[in-house]
Amino acid sequence: MAHRKLRVGMVGGGGPGNFFGGPHRTAILMDNTAELTAGALRSTKEGSLAEAERLFFKRGYGDFATMMTEEAKLADKIDYVTIVTPNDSHYAAAKAALENGIGVLCEKPLTLTLEESLDLVRLTKSTGLPFIVAYTYTGLPMVMLAREMVSQGDIGEIRKVEAWYPQGWLADRTEDSGLQQATWRVDPKKSGASGCGGDIGTHAYEFVRFVAGLSATEVSARLTTFVSGRVLDDDFTVLARLCNGGTATVSASQVTVGALNDVGFKVIGTKGRVEWSMTDHLNLQVYRSGQPLQVYRLGGDPLPDSMAGYTRLPGGHPEGFHEALANLHKSIQRQILARAGEATPAAYPHPGVVDGAAGMAFIEAAVASSHASGAWTAVAGVD
Ligand SMILES: NC(=O)c1ccc[n+]([C@@H]2O[C@H](COP(=O)([O-])OP(=O)(O)OC[C@H]3O[C@@H](n4cnc5c(N)ncnc54)[C@H](O)[C@@H]3O)[C@@H](O)[C@H]2O)c1
Repeated sequence: MAHRKLRVGMVGGGGPGNFFGGPHRTAILMDNTAELTAGALRSTKEGSLAEAERLFFKRGYGDFATMMTEEAKLADKIDYVTIVTPNDSHYAAAKAALENGIGVLCEKPLTLTLEESLDLVRLTKSTGLPFIVAYTYTGLPMVMLAREMVSQGDIGEIRKVEAWYPQGWLADRTEDSGLQQATWRVDPKKSGASGCGGDIGTHAYEFVRFVAGLSATEVSARLTTFVSGRVLDDDFTVLARLCNGGTATVSASQVTVGALNDVGFKVIGTKGRVEWSMTDHLNLQVYRSGQPLQVYRLGGDPLPDSMAGYTRLPGGHPEGFHEALANLHKSIQRQILARAGEATPAAYPHPGVVDGAAGMAFIEAAVASSHASGAWTAVAGVD
């Protein structure tokens, strides 16, 4: 691979009312290491082509299937694709990419069903292509630092994880306003079997896996639909048994009036505790038994070598959500370079296709448990 920018495709993320295409484009372009090469940005052919032109993509396509097969024929084909459609097309778009030799950075939840996710796991393993799932918060440096501390044994054996994600934007019938993000998120055909759980409960559960390095083996869940006329849950409360014998609580809600994206976690071990919240995301609180509470400040305190290149500014200048997303793009880009034999620092182990599938296994078990009045329900193992 000659020294060049990587070529990125995008599926979804276009149109005037769209949310998450913009943050991904900012993230892709942030380090000047990649370009917006190919786009199938909307669900209609005309819309897709018009958006690709408006947003200065080099090549526009009418739909993602054509994009993957046509790109595969080119000498300068895309290196990876960013999938940022509603959840119902993640599977088909990711499958089409992998089958055409294209790496994938896919939005969460990975698919509509666990079965689809497992198929992507198989396909990713058989092709050996890079695959990252956009659990954005895992790209925040203080979340990565928490993971480093836990994996180094700083807080001992993990006894408990508390993970939470409250939002308030669906506390009323927001979907009746026509807001497109609300409309498809409350539709099981587009969103999946759990509304709140799939949309934000998966982010909270990923802290159990990414930061604590553990996974749920059984869950007892209560999924509630508080707003009348809605089919899917808008509140998601799960108690989990962990693979090491520990306990986790994973709580997410879209009806916490006044909450924004106030996601966070506590990981509690035998020798200490790490605690982080998006409302104070530049700081990581660490309590080690017998010592005063310590607060690690981004930019002020040293970071491990494994995180080199994952921060961009001197301390005191906030790095946040866009930078976190850019860090996930950095990781897939490093994986692609390494696979091509190029000199590159090691990619940080950000969540991949297995983690995305584990998120779906957690959701499916929580839905089944809730239907059975909270009965303890096994979570399918994914590896
Ligand atoms: N990781 C995060 O922090 C985070 C944050 C927000 C959204 N998301 C995820 O991003 C995805 C998109 O969410 P959003 O809020 O941006 O939705 P949105 O409704 O704002 O945008 C969806 C876009 O997909 C396009 N689209 C729909 N079907 C398509 C198809 N078949 N081919 C091409 N384009 C298609 C639509 O035209 C639209 O541009 C969801 O999976 C969501 O869960 C993740």
